[in-house]
Amino acid sequence: MKIISDVNELKTYLKKEKKIIGFVPTMGALHDGHLSLIKKAKNECELIVVSIFVNPTQFLVGEDLDKYPSRDEADKKICKLAGVDVVFLPQKEDIYGSDEVSLKAPNVRGFVLEGATRPGHFDGVLTVVNKLFNIVNPDYAYFGKKDAQQLNLISLMVKQLFIDVKIVAVDTVRESDGLALSSRNIYLSKEQRKGALKISSSLYEASKMVQKKIYTSKEIKKAMSEILKPLEVGYVEILSRDFEVIDTIEIGNTVILVETLVGSTRLLDNIWL
Ligand code: PAF
Repeated sequence: MKIISDVNELKTYLKKEKKIIGFVPTMGALHDGHLSLIKKAKNECELIVVSIFVNPTQFLVGEDLDKYPSRDEADKKICKLAGVDVVFLPQKEDIYGSDEVSLKAPNVRGFVLEGATRPGHFDGVLTVVNKLFNIVNPDYAYFGKKDAQQLNLISLMVKQLFIDVKIVAVDTVRESDGLALSSRNIYLSKEQRKGALKISSSLYEASKMVQKKIYTSKEIKKAMSEILKPLEVGYVEILSRDFEVIDTIEIGNTVILVETLVGSTRLLDNIWL
């Protein structure tokens, strides 16, 4: 496994290899969720690149950039065991200059849900993912469905900027008790982690209601909000896959999203119906 920090070195190496490249962009602190992205990439591609870069531009002032878990050595070992070919580990200066051209998330889709509480967050995500795509030039890029809005906006960016990469959406990985895996779960105390299980429980309840042919968004949101009590809920939304609010669930075209604050940790989860 190669570990490369230099942008030009990586570009030259990948060009020379002439292989089908699968790319998994990450901010490190790798867990089984990332491994499922790598595994899928390995099934479909000839050369796997994982980037590890805690992107400063997607953190707002006062957010947890400084305390974001950094585990480069453990992450490298995980990548090696998973059969990754190249870990791209740039420094901030390799990615950003002092006077930057940057991307702007779309005014509507980029500033609802996560974008409403974290205005500007998706500008940073799109800017860095676009840069990483330009560096790695992957054939396929893998993103978790757990960050559904991020996935939606990256897919939109690829379409609107005519970027030649296929975005692959990968199912959320959960602990056996239902908690969706996230690098931020390590901030949860035992008690908070227990409380956080209400998030997946509320989504399971939504899916059960749909199985019982209850399709009204209002009814489902009400039942979910009951289960989520007393967590501090940021939002419970029922949207089409294009991120438009829908009053009635359409099987095959619905995503139900939840955001809660557990202690000071913001947790996201969703279910695709
Ligand atoms: O999902 C993440 O880890 C990050 O938002 C990403 C896509 C690597 C961009 O920094």
